[in-house]
Amino acid sequence: MGRSSSIRFAFALFATAALAACGGSQPAPATSAEPGATPAADAPAEGGGDLVWKDDMPDSAKAVFMKKKVMPVMGKSFKEFDPKEFADVSCKTCHGPQMKPHPVDFLPELTFKDGKLKEAEEHPEMAKFMHDKVVPQMAELFGKPVYDPATQQGFGCNGCHKINM
Ligand code: HEC
Ligand code: HEC
Repeated sequence: MGRSSSIRFAFALFATAALAACGGSQPAPATSAEPGATPAADAPAEGGGDLVWKDDMPDSAKAVFMKKKVMPVMGKSFKEFDPKEFADVSCKTCHGPQMKPHPVDFLPELTFKDGKLKEAEEHPEMAKFMHDKVVPQMAELFGKPVYDPATQQGFGCNGCHKINM
């Protein structure tokens, strides 16, 4: 979809943004230091109350959104689901140790066969948690509807996992 050409460039940006956003206990430096920062990334740097996700916003703004909006919600949910396994939720929980820009390039692939999810046999609790919590919460964070198989629109498992049919 004409996207691959920009991936290298996006990744370079991503690495910088991710470092800033994942920089330990210190508050992340506001993106305002970057000449290319948009007002959207700029304005809510403190608190992030009115940050809004846009698919076409710069990666630096996406990283800020992830830190301020995604981490608090997802960190809590994953921890509640399994406090031991997810004691330490971070960007890497979804993006992997190498901070892949897209979680689909890191997280386990899922296989749907005859309308059934193969991985749900081995990880039923996990699959249920994903369906009941992770997808709706992430969809809400992104301001998107939950995936609807009828229309094939919306945010679903394939927002984070590669799906094999
Ligand atoms: C719960 C899973 C999850 C966590 C945790 C998470 N992300 Fe994301 N991230 C996503 C999803 C889903 C997308 C959007 C899907 C996509 O672009 O492939 C995304 C997209 C991004 C993008 C845009 C990438 C691009 O090139 O479009 C950046 C930058 C990013 N995340 C940075 C971070 C940072 C920094 C952290 C930690 C502060 C973080 N993410 C934590 C799931 C997560
Ligand atoms: C916001 C990102 C996100 C979305 C959306 C998402 N997942 Fe996940 N999924 C994860 C993360 C993070 C893990 C944990 C990986 C790990 O164990 O470190 C995971 C793990 C899984 C696992 C365990 C796989 C294994 O081999 O350990 C299954 C099964 C799963 N997801 C199913 C689903 C299903 C089904 C959906 C859609 C209903 C879905 N996921 C949507 C982020 C997501």
